[in-house]
Amino acid sequence: MEVAQINFDRFNVLRDEEAQERIRAARAKLGKQAVLLVHHYQRADVYQHADLTGDSLKLARLASESEAEFIVFCGVHFMAEVADILSKPEQIAILPDLAAGCSMADMANLAKVERCWRELAEVLGEAPDAQFTPVTYINSAADLKAFCGEHGGIVCTSSNARTILDWSFAQRPKVLFFPDQHLGRWTGHQMGIALEEMCVWDPDLEYGGLTPEQIRSAKMLLWKGHCSVHQMFQPAHILRWRNKHPDGLVISHPEGPFEVCRQSDYVGSTEYILKTVKAGAPGTRWLVGTELNLVSRLAEEVKAEGKIVEFMSPTVCMCSTMQRIDPQHLAWTLENLAEGKIVNRISVPEHEAVQAKLSLDRMLAVS
Ligand code: 13P
Ligand code: SF4
Repeated sequence: MEVAQINFDRFNVLRDEEAQERIRAARAKLGKQAVLLVHHYQRADVYQHADLTGDSLKLARLASESEAEFIVFCGVHFMAEVADILSKPEQIAILPDLAAGCSMADMANLAKVERCWRELAEVLGEAPDAQFTPVTYINSAADLKAFCGEHGGIVCTSSNARTILDWSFAQRPKVLFFPDQHLGRWTGHQMGIALEEMCVWDPDLEYGGLTPEQIRSAKMLLWKGHCSVHQMFQPAHILRWRNKHPDGLVISHPEGPFEVCRQSDYVGSTEYILKTVKAGAPGTRWLVGTELNLVSRLAEEVKAEGKIVEFMSPTVCMCSTMQRIDPQHLAWTLENLAEGKIVNRISVPEHEAVQAKLSLDRMLAVS
């Protein structure tokens, strides 16, 4: 099959309905050759084409089990990388728009994590591998997963973070957690680790902005990273809503700020949020702290049971990068595939993929 450099421009001007028709036609032609894996944050006009949907963990597993020649990932870059790493060598992972990244994943990079590791070695007087398990949230580039693979570390997602941290502390007494400080802090708190034992490592400052004593006594070092979508949710939003709806239930994603998670009735991954609200009693009212596409779709789905689902923030919080996967890009990708031309392949270099797979396989085995 030809690897194509094909211009997207003529698809950019496609009307939505035409793009939808062309998606359907290309899919009919491709049949089982292509599988569409779609994350829960995906916009409705793309979500409707999903073969399979899920949170990051479920989609990683589905990618590893798929037999399709093309895994078309409607999500963000790190998810398509995981699909490439976990699928068979002959399978091809595709991201319909290469600009669909994750701003949180970009908050850590290999140079900064290696510098952190060197500075830890200086302070500890030995390789940090003896004391720290490096844990990367799946929202990170493949070379960071490879770093964890090489240093006896592991990957986690929002749905298995607790299990993964239990495993990590069973290996060594401390954890370096990147890039999402909020998921790390919330999970540590759930395990009974005191907030004072979790220090924020600021990668833009020498020694993370910490004193040698703080580094030596910390149980967890939390990378100073966050999700720009989830940081919009505030405890005040919950308070205002609870005042109006004292019987209402609040559910949040653990990427939200610590106080938001603490004041929520339930905290969990996108898949967990969907399952919990769908399993809720008829007539219940929910405030949901995660991305707007998911919340709007959920509100529609449970309306018939008399459930009311409301969005936590008064401002629009969408994952703007995931939003880039639109019907035009999907039509362009699938039509090219149906014509035997591969566009937007995500291919992790072999040397990185081998080490990254180690840390991903550890995660899949543990969770
Ligand atoms: P989930 O694994 O819960 O789907 O979360 C992924 C993500 O990026 C949330 O912002
Ligand atoms: Fe990344 Fe936040 Fe988008 Fe999730 S919602 S993919 S963490 S930018």
